[in-house]
Amino acid sequence: MMSVISKYKKPTPPSSDTRWKLLEATMRRHGYKASSLIECLHTVQEAFGYLDEDAMRYVAYSLRVPLSKVYGVATFYHFFTLKPQGRHTCVVCTGTACYIKGAGNLIAAIEKKYDVKPGETSADGELSLLTARCFGCCGLAPAAVIDGEVAGKLTPDEILERIEKKVKSHDNAS
Ligand code: FES
Repeated sequence: MMSVISKYKKPTPPSSDTRWKLLEATMRRHGYKASSLIECLHTVQEAFGYLDEDAMRYVAYSLRVPLSKVYGVATFYHFFTLKPQGRHTCVVCTGTACYIKGAGNLIAAIEKKYDVKPGETSADGELSLLTARCFGCCGLAPAAVIDGEVAGKLTPDEILERIEKKVKSHDNAS
């Protein structure tokens, strides 16, 4: 058993996104113990706004728990959101720095234009709106992640424009 453990390779994060560092810090703080699973999933959710398969695999591998258990926990507790089904995803940071710099106005603008509330997907399936608590890039406040791209110092007009661009590029591609 020892030899298996000593050969264990430290897993690498699914991408170079700096938000994985927040998760790594949580895992390290808990000594990569399986018992910290909920805590770790919380960190992912707070940083990304939802849990997707890559994140759950990474947590499972890092804590050495079966992926099925991670899915079990993620789907059992209502406070976890699995990756939304909208064609596009906008996660607005509502951490303190972003909140002070107007994250609420960004959310209000999106709600109005797409008729969608945080945690929901628009009726046409085009956009899922999510919120997260601090991406770890507070200097960019107010920040949002739109389809995986971090955008900072946003105004309501700018965030709507960025979302619109994503929606249009999708329309053109299809
Ligand atoms: S509070 Fe928004 S990135 Fe830190």
